Amino acid sequence: MNPNVRPDDMKRIVNSELANAFIDEQVAAVRAQVGNKRVLLALSGGVDSSVVAALLIKAIGKQLVCVHVNHGLMRKGESEQVIEVFGKALDANLVYVDATDRFLDLLAGVADPERKRKIIGGEFIKVFDEEASKLEGISYLAQGTIYPDILESIKQAEGKKAVKSHHNVGGLPEEMQFELVEPIKLLFKDEVRVVGEALGLPHAMVYRQPFPGPGLGVRCLGAITRDRLHALREADAILREEFDNAGLAEKVWQYFIAIPYIKSVGVKDESRYEGWPAIIRAINTKDAMSATIEEIPYAVLHKITARITSEVPGINRVLYDLTPKPTGTIEWE
Ligand code: XMP
Repeated sequence: MNPNVRPDDMKRIVNSELANAFIDEQVAAVRAQVGNKRVLLALSGGVDSSVVAALLIKAIGKQLVCVHVNHGLMRKGESEQVIEVFGKALDANLVYVDATDRFLDLLAGVADPERKRKIIGGEFIKVFDEEASKLEGISYLAQGTIYPDILESIKQAEGKKAVKSHHNVGGLPEEMQFELVEPIKLLFKDEVRVVGEALGLPHAMVYRQPFPGPGLGVRCLGAITRDRLHALREADAILREEFDNAGLAEKVWQYFIAIPYIKSVGVKDESRYEGWPAIIRAINTKDAMSATIEEIPYAVLHKITARITSEVPGINRVLYDLTPKPTGTIEWE
């Protein structure tokens, strides 16, 4: 039996009963695999790595070392949530690394999206590697690989061409010589969420919308500057809050702000006010290969516009991107 192929008779995990059975099975399997050895995990705070972390904490407790690298391109409150949930509530062995300055210094002046992705992905591996080498006696590397990742790599191996390189900064540092622990590799995303809830993770974490590995780095368009990145993070937090208030958060597959590097003339307090536009993107899709635009009620758009333009320094307009994929990709870079 190929361990990377989902058996035909494997039941779809649709409720807590099936999730608990899966958890018991994986807890036993992980214990049998790693014995009393130590396991390392890059914990991004995304759904997959969070579920793996919670599962492994249940299986092996402090033998798991979670490393959370804050690359300075996280959304507002995300790293804090990782510390809160894993460092405090679950009492995990958590190493938190604030590498914001390293990443932003390297990215200064770099405008090309693919170069930005390479720098972010490469630096992530470096920081993670440095942290790993400070730890004693690590034998295994845990990963939040899920079944669509396996299917995707099969497609890539068949030579299908990608539009973007899609660096996933939570991915495996290729040169690392560890044996892998991949407890959710045969699960689809909806199943991972059911398992996450059964493990007691916060609903908002388990139902978090997809977030690209390079994070806000590909939404702060062109060469990233700290002031524009700050405006982006604040505007994005407002968008998310208002989508939550309007009951749209779980209805829309992905929604975010992008900020281009142009300024336009505006007016504030009766004076000329040059600022960036904040662009709202809100799409629905099944597989991210194509996407349609979500019809956001005007009242919600007005509220978001009013809040962003009054609360976020540097922004004087809000635009709503109506482009489906194709022709627009979901991200602007
Ligand atoms: P695009 O922009 O290609 O995005 O239509 C499709 C989906 O992939 C996400 N995305 C990425 N995810 N690393 C990732 O891990 C990346 O470099 C990357 N670029 C895009 C995007 O957010 C959308 O869900």
